[in-house]
Amino acid sequence: MQETKDIGLRGIPVADTKTCAVDGEKGRLTYRGYDIDELARYSTFEETVYLLLYETLPTRKELEIFKETLSSERQLPVGIIRHLKKRKKTAHPMDVLQSVIPMLADFDAGARVGTKGAQIKTSIGLVAKMATLVAYWDRIRKNLDIKKPDETLGHAANFLYMLNGDVPDEETAGDFDTCLVLQAEHSFNASTFAARVVASTRAHMHACVGAALGALSGELHGGANTQVMNMLFEIDNINRVEKWVNAKLDAGKMIMGMGHAVYKTMDPRARILYGISEKLAERTGNIKWFKLSRKIDSVVRAEFKKRKGKEIYPNVDFYSPSVYYVMGIDPDLFTAIFAVSRISGWCAHIIEEKFAEAQPKPALYRPEAEYIGRYCGNEGCKYVPIEKRE
Ligand SMILES: CC(C)(COP(=O)(O)OP(=O)(O)OC[C@H]1O[C@@H](n2cnc3c(N)ncnc32)[C@H](O)[C@@H]1OP(=O)(O)O)[C@@H](O)C(=O)NCCC(=O)NCCS
Repeated sequence: MQETKDIGLRGIPVADTKTCAVDGEKGRLTYRGYDIDELARYSTFEETVYLLLYETLPTRKELEIFKETLSSERQLPVGIIRHLKKRKKTAHPMDVLQSVIPMLADFDAGARVGTKGAQIKTSIGLVAKMATLVAYWDRIRKNLDIKKPDETLGHAANFLYMLNGDVPDEETAGDFDTCLVLQAEHSFNASTFAARVVASTRAHMHACVGAALGALSGELHGGANTQVMNMLFEIDNINRVEKWVNAKLDAGKMIMGMGHAVYKTMDPRARILYGISEKLAERTGNIKWFKLSRKIDSVVRAEFKKRKGKEIYPNVDFYSPSVYYVMGIDPDLFTAIFAVSRISGWCAHIIEEKFAEAQPKPALYRPEAEYIGRYCGNEGCKYVPIEKRE
């Protein structure tokens, strides 16, 4: 047996991809060849989604048409809204997404059409509706009236409008848009891999996305951002950081939002989010959460080096909570917001899994496991009837 079985397939290539590259040593991330720094600075979420789905940057005209299509797809079917209104108000947003996204297949005539064009159309619908679903659920669970999508607003601004009920100022909408760009895609992370495993069975796109959402919800993956905010609440005061961090590390606990399975240097997304968090804190005057995050970051890094003799860095989930919270977003929505963005990367990967031109074509995923269970010799274990098992 290879020595890889206990380490979650770290460093084992399982497929070819043209969607995204992550260089963990250099701290570099590219979507379809374009550096994340440039995309964050110059692109918009809509343009990034186009790039991921169509494999190229759009012309101005193509982008205009794409934005119109995306915004025309925002509204949820009445049947889905009715379902949301009947749901238990305490349902976690990630559970709502994971159960409702497959229901959208009921309303998508193209869901089971096996052409790339149909799958791209379905993807656009999912990107548009994921945002609406998150915003609608948040308002429905709070007994607030839902805010219908505003076609005059871009994806980021419209999401904040549907969520908070007010059109955000341009800078806030721009910052949120950049957050969406940063989280859109990250190669074979756990949720994307889950989506691709399901896609390899030729299940439809909604089923693949349902699997991805389940994987994203865990605290070692997308769920980390909510845990980071819980950590900020728990520490609360900058003077308590050192004691808190040391107690956690002494107890062998993980510090959420720190460390990464691939990056062995600074996660480029965390660097950009640090800047957004700082800028937003200064603009709004609400600097507590940024300052607290920065202090935890520096204490964890110093302690980690002292204890293990190696570096640890913040990941994408470390500085996004202080951004979202200051934007008025509830912490238990943070992972769902990750999904509002990452749906674009998942769809691009599902399409790649199903329609790759590369040879050999992707096959049904079927790894092996080494059996270490009960063994009763070559004959196998003798079945004992239930009445004789005392
Ligand atoms: C993401 C994560 C699962 C990667 O784990 P990994 O692949 O094992 O990371 P590494 O191999 O670099 O870990 C090296 C060492 O650092 C420790 N470590 C890694 N992240 C840590 C963290 N956040 N807090 C404390 N210790 C950590 C590991 O336990 C390991 O210790 P060891 O050498 O004694 O076994 C891990 O960093 C983690 O759980 N982080 C917190 C959750 C999180 O933020 N998830 C979102 C990721 S985008």
